[in-house]
Amino acid sequence: EMAEKAGFPHFMLKEIYEQPGAIRDAIHGNREVIKSVAEEIAKYEKVIFVAMGTSYHAALAGKYLLQRLAKKAPLVEEASEFRYEFEDLIDENTLVIAITQSGETADTLAAMKLAKRKGAKVLAIVNVVGSMATRIADLTLYTHAGPEIGVAATKTYTTQLTVLTMLAIELARILGTADEKYLEELERTLERAPELVEQVLGYNSSLRELAETLKDRKDFFYIGRGISVPTALEGALKLKEISYIHAEGISAGELKHGPLALLEDGVPVIAINPSGRVFEKMVSNMEEARARGAMIIALSDRKELERVSDVLIEMPPVDELLTPIIYVVPLQLLAYHLAVLRGNDPDKPRNLAKSVTVE
Ligand code: G6P
Repeated sequence: EMAEKAGFPHFMLKEIYEQPGAIRDAIHGNREVIKSVAEEIAKYEKVIFVAMGTSYHAALAGKYLLQRLAKKAPLVEEASEFRYEFEDLIDENTLVIAITQSGETADTLAAMKLAKRKGAKVLAIVNVVGSMATRIADLTLYTHAGPEIGVAATKTYTTQLTVLTMLAIELARILGTADEKYLEELERTLERAPELVEQVLGYNSSLRELAETLKDRKDFFYIGRGISVPTALEGALKLKEISYIHAEGISAGELKHGPLALLEDGVPVIAINPSGRVFEKMVSNMEEARARGAMIIALSDRKELERVSDVLIEMPPVDELLTPIIYVVPLQLLAYHLAVLRGNDPDKPRNLAKSVTVE
């Protein structure tokens, strides 16, 4: 097992570090096929994502990507809800995009089967080659992340995001919904994602130090807006899964509608705030939280956020649509260090399984 971990103390850390290569493989592995898949699905008006867990967060990011680039507003449903609610809401004009690392999650497979039965077209985005999901789907795109052993998904998430970004770009091109120059610029930025992730992996030791100061905290909040909402949810999920600390990921607009009541001195609020459409709005949310005594840990490419935060994790500047891939990495590392510092085995969190194949 030591050999398989390639010198890393845990599979999870190894897999976090494998992300630059995995993203590169996801790009190269899909370059030839993405266009024909996008062409097949371009005509569907109604698009519904189904997934669970981390894959569900990728689906949420996929929704923002399709909204911004392809001017489509898809639904995103947990497969466990979809399968009992959507029977009468889907037909031959529906495209269902199932996202699943393992290709074996019971609820996701059931959702796909329902979609097929109702005549919908099913595209699966899958990591495990030849898994059940690939056999049910009409079309499959692979994430090419390689085997993931740690129960908490890491490289399979960033590669799902990579494939979704490629798909959204290609759809926008086919539908003519975005400027070709901009799409090419996004493609070039995506090519650089492995480098940017590599750069962020360089924060590992400072994130370990940060984790030291946070390890006895009982509640964490992760906030974001727009395309950073899924990042906030995923950051909170990573923390819950392996450190067993209570965490909530929320869209910052909801702060005033409840969560603010929970903020008191020293409660960590992780604010994901890259440059973009909602940057200033998020600054106000950060100020609101800070005024209640929260400890603000900001992830941003904007140095001026030092003014409204206790800790600023400076991120490389990148188009807002590419930030999910880059910004989740420090959150994975933070959760990992908190788990280890609290004496947990991050590879095998209590009560959780790598794939939930029973209901
Ligand atoms: C389990 C795993 C998660 C994963 C989820 C969905 O809960 O622990 O890491 O995100 O299942 O799995 P899938 O294989 O369908 O992506």
